[in-house]
Amino acid sequence: MTIDFDRIHERRNSDSLKWFDPEGKNAIPMWVADMDFAAADCVLEALRERIGQQVFGYAVDTKELRQAVVDWAESHYSWRIDPEWIVWLPGLVPGIHLSCRILAAAGEEILSPVPVYPPFLTAPSAGGRRLRTVPLEQEGDRWTLDVDALHRAAGPETKLLLFCHPHNPVGKVFRRKELEALADFCERQDLWVCSDEIHCDLMLDDGPHVPLASLGTGIAARTVTLMAPSKTFNLSGLSCGYAVIPDPEIRERFRSATGELVPHPNVFGYAACRAAYEKGEPWRLELIDYLRGNRDLLESYVAERLPMLAVSHVEATYLAWIDIRGLGEKIGAAFFEERGVRLSSGIPFQGPGFVRLNFACPRQTLRNALDRIAAAIHSM
Ligand SMILES: Cc1ncc(COP(=O)(O)O)c(C=O)c1O
Repeated sequence: MTIDFDRIHERRNSDSLKWFDPEGKNAIPMWVADMDFAAADCVLEALRERIGQQVFGYAVDTKELRQAVVDWAESHYSWRIDPEWIVWLPGLVPGIHLSCRILAAAGEEILSPVPVYPPFLTAPSAGGRRLRTVPLEQEGDRWTLDVDALHRAAGPETKLLLFCHPHNPVGKVFRRKELEALADFCERQDLWVCSDEIHCDLMLDDGPHVPLASLGTGIAARTVTLMAPSKTFNLSGLSCGYAVIPDPEIRERFRSATGELVPHPNVFGYAACRAAYEKGEPWRLELIDYLRGNRDLLESYVAERLPMLAVSHVEATYLAWIDIRGLGEKIGAAFFEERGVRLSSGIPFQGPGFVRLNFACPRQTLRNALDRIAAAIHSM
């Protein structure tokens, strides 16, 4: 290990959303999905170099930047994409909203398995589309998606599936067989898919990640894949992501929306993205090792010391989905925040009775947070 992920970076009095604490509650923040780690040296160097140019006018996505994305997809997922298919976005949440507005008409229905990252649940109605949810099913400490239930839920008005792969918040990796069944479902029901794969470079167990659209030309033609270097390389504040859209007409509609209602990514986002994809792989591999260690610590801590909780096994992402129903109906994220740990409430994910814990922090911070959680529970 050459990178010191144990190092504590003081973010308390910085501009960090995660650590913003105007009321002085001093709760350890384990909520919003960014990491308490410094960016990779190669990214820092690229940013310094970009600042050195001293001029920050409108940016264009260079051929080299597109090639870095193409090479990353090929080398990591054996997925060959055409550089033309890339549409840059300042974030993936705008990509979710654009998908809802472009791939379903007003009043039409959008399908989403739940629980899920909250913008999946708010974007359809924000654009005047209807949301239909289908619950994920729990089998022991794993989650599954029942494709038969999707078939039953989809009707003639259903036009789009919002798919989170790997899954936030349950940490699930969808295997090739499950993806094939899902692709078959989308083709039979004639659905578009927005496949949000922002966490795809954070596989903690077996890889590689299989992009849904890489299964074949049929499913690729009806999929908008959302990707970004932001979760993997901790670059969320630099506003840079992209959609991969093989369909030319849909791509054009996305493209014409960016630069108008949706802004372009900024020059630093582009510079960081290229550096991360071209030179960041050794950093990413060390990160995965470290996150795996944190995941193992968390899962064994809960199993051994907090048997009244249940945490599903985190196969990917740095987010743990914790079942707190054993503590009684009245206990939620607020209980833990008052006792020193800020977690995400499950309610906006349509997961009442659960909390989400972000373990992308130095191990000592995670230990402190777990000790505070244990003390809170044992004091009940
Ligand atoms: C599944 C998923 N999509 C999108 C985002 C946010 O993307 P962005 O910050 O690029 O808008 C997140 C952040 O946690 C996420 O988990």
